[in-house]
Parts: sequence; C-alpha cells; structure tokens
Amino acid sequence: MTTQQIEVSIVVPTYNEADNVAELVARIEAAVEGLAAEIIVVDDSSDETPAAVRREAARSPLPIRLIHRDVATGGLSGAVVAGLEASRGRWSVVMDGDLQHPPELIPVLVASGESENADVVVASRHIAGGADAGLSGALRHLVSTGATVLTRAMFPIKLRDCTDPMTGFFAVRRSSVDLSTLRPHGFKILLEILARTPLTVVEEPFVFAERHAGESKADLRQGFTFLAQIAALRFGRLSGFAAIGAVGAVANLGIMAALQAFGVWYLAAAIVAAVVTILGNFVLLERFVFHDLRDGAHSVWKRFAQSVAFNGTETAVRTGVLFLIVESTSVPGILAQALLIAVGFVIRFVYHSRVVYKPDRTTSPAPSASRVDGTLTATD
Ligand code: GDD
Ligand code: MN
Repeated sequence: MTTQQIEVSIVVPTYNEADNVAELVARIEAAVEGLAAEIIVVDDSSDETPAAVRREAARSPLPIRLIHRDVATGGLSGAVVAGLEASRGRWSVVMDGDLQHPPELIPVLVASGESENADVVVASRHIAGGADAGLSGALRHLVSTGATVLTRAMFPIKLRDCTDPMTGFFAVRRSSVDLSTLRPHGFKILLEILARTPLTVVEEPFVFAERHAGESKADLRQGFTFLAQIAALRFGRLSGFAAIGAVGAVANLGIMAALQAFGVWYLAAAIVAAVVTILGNFVLLERFVFHDLRDGAHSVWKRFAQSVAFNGTETAVRTGVLFLIVESTSVPGILAQALLIAVGFVIRFVYHSRVVYKPDRTTSPAPSASRVDGTLTATD
C-alpha cells in the first residue's frame, strides 16, 4: 500500500495496554473493511504492549506502525500529537487503546466529516444516543460533568458545537490543524486542538464502554494538569505567571506581617518572607507556567540557579530600596514593599521567559528521543 492511498490513520495512544491490543486491532480490522486505513500506536509503556503490537502488525492485513517513545513527553496528549504528525491519511481518528471507544464508529466519524465538510468530528457522550456508561463511579461522573460544564463556559464560542470536549475519541481532517500551535500536556488533547484553532465541528453519539482489560491511568494529578491547561488556554502564560506572582506577593506580605506581629524586625521579616516565596515561586513556575518549555530549556539545576539568583538579587536590591524608603520617608513598610514587588514582577517575567526558559540549542529536541519502527507489515 503506498502513502497516497491511505485515507484514514487511526492513532492509538497506549500506556500498558498489552492485554487490549489484539482485541482492539481485530475490532478495528472488522470496522474499517473497505477503507484504506493504517494504525499508528504511540506507546509509552513499560509492559509488553510493544511486543503485542509487533505481533499484530506481523499478522494483520492493515499497516500498523509502532512509535515507542523513550521519553513520554506531553503524556497522553503528547503521544496523540506524535501520532498525528506521523499520520499519512487525509483523516486521523484518535481513540483510546482500552476499547472504551468502539472502533465500529471509525467509518461513521469519517463519513460524517466528509459529508458535513467538517474539520473535526467529535464522538460525543452527551448528545442523543450517547452515554458514558463505562465511567466508573459517581465521583468520576461528577468530575467529568463538572469539567465539561466549566470548560464549555470558558470557551463558549470555540466549543459552541462541541458537547464533549473531554472525549478522547474524534476524527480530524489532517490538513485543518497546525500541530505546531499545540502545547500538549495531560489528557485533554481535543480541547487543546479546538481551543487553539477555529474549526468546524460536528458530532456523532457514542456509548463510552467499560474498559476491556487493565486499569485507567487518570488520577488527581491529571485533574490539576487539566486546570492548568484551561488556565493557560484561556489566559496565556503571562496570566499564569501573574497569578503565581500574586499568590507569592500575598504570601510574602502575610509572612512579613505575621513575623512583625511577633515582634520580628521588619528587615528580618522581609528576608524570611523572601526566601520562602522565592523557593515556592520556582516550584510553581516549573509545574504550571513553563512546564511546556522545560524539556527544551537547560537543566533543572541551571534553571533553579538562574531563577533563585535573579529573585535573590532582585529581593536584595528591593530590600535595600525598602530600607531607604522606610528610613527616609514616612511611607509604611508594607506599602513600600507592595509597590516594589509590582515593579519587580514585570522585570521578572521578561527574565524568566527570555533567559531561564529560553530554548537551549545544545540539548536535542524532544522528538529525537523517540524511535519510530518502520511499518511492520508486508503490505507497505
Ligand atoms: N502513549 C501514552 N502515554 N498513552 C497514554 C498515557 C501516556 O502517558 N496515559 C494514558 N494513555 C492511554 C491509555 O493507555 C489509553 O489507551 C488512553 O490513553 C486513555 O487512558 P485511560 O487510562 O484509559 O484513561 P481514562 O479512561 O480514565 O480517560 C479517558 O477517558 C476520557 C473520557 O472520560 C481518556 O481517553 C480521555 O481521553 C477521555 O476523554
Ligand atoms: Mn480508559
């Protein structure tokens, strides 16, 4: 089968799904009968999943490619983007590897996209005919519903035609999305795609089934990552930086006021408050604001040294100026400190964006860490 002939690339992200691979491929084979399809498995597993994929590839009439990543950059979302990059079809259908997404819907999604001339076809649990029966437990239902309502409220225009931005089952017209605009992180790649680009969306209902085998990888951490993702999509990096700066400023003033209330000299109080805030600031920036730039920047120790050195210097200078203001004017210490922190904020953002998280040309870019097996079938 030559490159031009592929109509549909089926992208399946996998993390320890060894016991699901054979069943998944068998059901896809039956579902795409008559379509020129390929399967691209993007795998970050530590189990036997790659061997199971190779076994299927050797047997299946469908071309099956395995991209096994040594570094799981961007997690599930990063895997999906890697699969979309490798897609040769006009359409890519993204689906989970645990059979919670019925493969029988693949041709329906593609046909709907063609006939409606859409960019994205979302398989939705929240329209007539859809259901999320396979979501385990009342808590997950509540979290899923809450996240869906919140997300649609935050992106009322981009998600106007999408009732299920949390779904991991959808088809995209490959030529309609510019993958370089995406910042994949966490579990919700469809939201990332729809929020970054204006696209025409149509939906098809589906029933979210029980997992075939193995267990879910969703956890509390994914919940926080999701919140950080919608904040980044809605407000951008500067706002995340500002929010964390504001938390730091409040903490700084709170610590200073508390220490002063216990009779600590204001300068000593300011120094203690500064040390706590600087360390906390670095941890939060790494986790929530510059997480997507960490891999391409220099090492964590260099970032830590640069961030702490800058903030330490800024604090020392600021505290010196604070001393001058308080000793030579009648401005209260807390007010002077608040004004100085505001000025420092702007300089700090520029420094962190341009220096601390600047892409490092001496480290190799993330994609080279992955290894792409050739198509493993004789039909290629
Ligand atoms: N390559 C890769 N890397 N795959 C991953 C990773 C990862 O770090 N984490 C999870 N996966 C794969 C799993 O192997 C599975 O095929 C798919 O992504 C979904 O992961 P699950 O662990 O089954 O998650 P879930 O069922 O709780 O969540 C799913 O349900 C949501 C709907 O509520 C996800 O598919 C979401 O995309 C979906 O919207
Ligand atoms: Mn699942």
